[in-house]
Amino acid sequence: VARKPLVAGNWKMHGLASSAPEFVQMVGAYPAIKDKVDLMVFPPATLLTSFATATRGAGVIVGAQDCHPEASGAFTGDISAEMVRDAGGGAVIVGHSERRGDHRETDQLIRAKAKAALRAKLIGVVCVGETEDERKSGRALEVVGRQLAGSLPDESSPETIVVAYEPVWAIGTGLTPTVDEVAETHRFIRDELARRFGDTGRAFRVLYGGSVKPGNAAELLAVADVDGALVGGASLKAESFLAIARAAF
Ligand code: G3H
Repeated sequence: VARKPLVAGNWKMHGLASSAPEFVQMVGAYPAIKDKVDLMVFPPATLLTSFATATRGAGVIVGAQDCHPEASGAFTGDISAEMVRDAGGGAVIVGHSERRGDHRETDQLIRAKAKAALRAKLIGVVCVGETEDERKSGRALEVVGRQLAGSLPDESSPETIVVAYEPVWAIGTGLTPTVDEVAETHRFIRDELARRFGDTGRAFRVLYGGSVKPGNAAELLAVADVDGALVGGASLKAESFLAIARAAF
């Protein structure tokens, strides 16, 4: 199954209005590589509308880093998938390990958020990944399998859901798993998707995330069953984000 590479930048809680030129530079460089790689950028919610306006027609998808499962209601501080769509977003990250950890999000809640994404016609980027302890005690695949089973809605399709594998211990640390470990985990995720969704399971895109930089991107992105990257720190600068995007094809 041919899967178009996807490189996604998660800005986390970084970015002010003054960051717009970096994004505009990404958008400007995109036409030259558009046929070969899909790009998504997840700025903080405060910048979603202006980035959506800046990319209009260019094809870079902007999205939110989280959403509430409900469409609206008395949920102070939350934003819904419908609001993300209304602001010009086309995607949303759910289940990032910083949400799972800092906000005690469960697989059940993440699945509800992923369903909200589908309801609002957003692409849901569903994150899974083990902690350092879980990896060291040989439970990485078991944990990832459980998160996948619990977080992915039954209605998931390759067009609407992207899986991102992010080992928690590799996020923002400069550490990455070995190429063999990445291959093993991605093969496992691919097999789980095929077991649950049949042949279409082979068409889902599965991204690797965790300390992806221009210097290691080619090696990580060349691994079988790695269909792109979810990039944190290195996505904040157009130059490094684009270098990673170019390493994806
Ligand atoms: O969502 C992105 C990841 O958490 C990776 O972050 O590239 O800064 O390690 P990082």
